Formats: sequence, structure tokens, C-alpha cells
Amino acid sequence: MYVLGIESSCDETAAAIVSDKKEIIGQAVLTQLEHKIYGGVVPEIAARSHLEHIDEILEETFKQAKIKPSQLDAIAASSGPGLIGGVVIGAMAGKALALALNKPFIAVNHLEGHALAARLTGDVSYPYLLLLVSGGHCQILIVKGVGEFERLGTTIDDAAGEAFDKVAKMLNLGYPGGPMIEKMAELGDENRFSLPRPLIGSGDCNLSFSGLKTAVRKIIETYAPDGKIEHAIIRKRDIADICASFQLAATECLIRKLKKAIGIFRARYPQGKDIVVSGGVAANTYLRRNLQDLAEKEGLLFSAPPIQYCTDNGVMIAWAGMERALKGMYDDLDFKPRPRWPLDTSAPKAAGAGGVKA
Ligand code: KG4
Ligand code: ZN
Repeated sequence: MYVLGIESSCDETAAAIVSDKKEIIGQAVLTQLEHKIYGGVVPEIAARSHLEHIDEILEETFKQAKIKPSQLDAIAASSGPGLIGGVVIGAMAGKALALALNKPFIAVNHLEGHALAARLTGDVSYPYLLLLVSGGHCQILIVKGVGEFERLGTTIDDAAGEAFDKVAKMLNLGYPGGPMIEKMAELGDENRFSLPRPLIGSGDCNLSFSGLKTAVRKIIETYAPDGKIEHAIIRKRDIADICASFQLAATECLIRKLKKAIGIFRARYPQGKDIVVSGGVAANTYLRRNLQDLAEKEGLLFSAPPIQYCTDNGVMIAWAGMERALKGMYDDLDFKPRPRWPLDTSAPKAAGAGGVKA
């Protein structure tokens, strides 16, 4: 069985074809570089770029896969949440293919794509505890099955990736900020600056990164003669120390709340054995190492998708589509792409409901 997945919800135009045997038989990703000069993704530019490149990405995917479009069993497209101009382009491409080929269409929640990716690349079984950390989202969830999520905590302000991006922007490290902060942090002293760990003692699983970002801003201001961060003159060594101290603080916040979540997960699902991290920030090797240690201490198995499948890609959408297709969870072609789409409302549809049948 083969499912095509299309991703276009932010600044990656991507597609992939996966099989029910967990093979990735074709894939292509184009990361839009047009946004770099703006220090963040510009929605209108992103949408135009998706439109320009979606055909060649699909062509490349089919070329690698060496199958004909008619051999597909279903077509899945990331249909939200995300920048709506881009989401519409991927969803329309998916629907057009589904209609032309007379195959079922599956509207995949982009977050479900991140959430299930580790089941394609590893041996992860339901229910599992998930830390989902991306540029727009930061949540701790129990994944009980396809479309079945129980949210234990969320950020009350910035997402983790957003905090990495904002700190990188203040330090002129470019966009996206996460990879640059990680690289600089390797050269720095993580104990040089003492930074807050917001909400650490709140007793719940919620997170907050806004105060941490403000504390970094205050440090950067001390390097500017007039107190304006854009005039700050900071040596590379100091930048590295700021990055390392920030990465430590952000990681500690995530680890502490995950520890709390493990207690809840264990009490509710004693049979659960896996802990998974996914989303763009899961590409961070420092965070992955710390999560691995936490899992070992707690007697759980740690999994994370390979780094190239942590940031946005078509493979995760194709796989989430596959998991849905295997359950007959299809969507109608009039499914409206959603700019906002919380994961805990991705309720599974009854088998056979909706969709163009093959
Ligand atoms: O999942 P993703 O590709 O897009 C969204 O769905 O948001 O995540 C992108 C986010 C960006 O904020 C980026 O800075 C962050 O993931 N990121 C990282 C790393 N690589 C990407 N954050 C920390 N360390 C990294 N190595
Ligand atoms: Zn994402």
C-alpha cells in the first residue's frame, strides 16, 4: 500500500511516498531561503514559493519512487495548522490529485505528522508520551492512537522554537535560529549567565519561554553603549556563552515538565513504555541527549525521528496519512484547510466516512 504526503504549512515545500511496510520510496524537500533576509517567514512570499515549486517537488518524488500515480492508495496533505496561504496550496494539490486519480484524500493535521513520525522510523507503540517542540508549538501529550491525543501541558506564551529564533535574531545569528544557537552553544560556557526557568515550580506541565527570552535581551542590552540591542557589540566568545546558557535553561524547563508528565503518564497508562520527542527543536542534539538520559533514569525507551525528519518534511505527512488510511479514515474533498487546528480535536472519523473512494 502506498500513500503520498504533501507538506506546505510553513517554509518547506515537501512531498514523499511511503509504504505500509515503513519504506520511504520517494521524497523531496525544498527549504525556502527567501525569508532569511527578513529574519522570519513572510507568509505571502512563502505561499508564492509553494505555488512555484510544488509541481517539481511532486515530480521528483514520483521519479525516485518509481511508481505511477495510479499505484497510490491515498493522497494526504498537511491541511493545517499553519500559514493558510501555503496550507491551501498543498491541500489543493492533494485534492486535485485525489480527484484526478479517483483516490481517497486525507487531511492530515501537521502536528499529527510530527507526532507519529517516530513510529515510521522506530519501534514506538501506543500509548506514548510525546514532547512536541516546533517553531509554532510546544506541547506535552499522550498519544493514544491515530487522532487520539491527551494534552498534559502547553506553552502559555512562546513556542520553544520561537524562543530559539527570537534569541538568535537578537544576537544577529540569522533564521532559523535553532541550528545556529546549537552550534554556538557548543563553544560556550552554559554556566556563565544565570537565567530564569519560568513556571518551573508551577506544579503542572505547562511551559513558558517569554521571560527567558526577556532575560536574554537584558543581558544583550548590557553590551550596547546606549542600551539598544541593535547597537550591541558582543565578542563571539560572549555570544557562545549566552547561547549555551539559554540552551541549558530552555532544556531544563522542558526536562522538568516532562518529568512531571512521566508521573501522570505512568499513573494513567502503566503499559506505556515510550517517550518521544518530535518537531523542529527535536533536531537539537543537546536536547536529545538530555531526553535520552531522562528516559534511561525513568526506565522508559527514548525515540526521536532522524534529524532530517524533525523539521518539516513530506515523509511525516505521508506516514500520518498511511496510519489514517490503514484505518479507513478519509476526508471529503470539501475539507476546509485550517490555520488553527489543535491536536486534541483531531478526532478519528469512522472507517469509510467521507472521501472519494478508489
Ligand atoms: O517543525 P518545524 O520545521 O516547523 C514548524 O512546524 O514550526 O520547526 C522549526 C523550528 C524553528 O523554530 C527552528 O529554529 C527550530 O525548529 N529548530 C531548532 C533546531 N533546528 C530547528 N531548534 C533548536 N535546535 C535545533 N538544532
Ligand atoms: Zn512543523
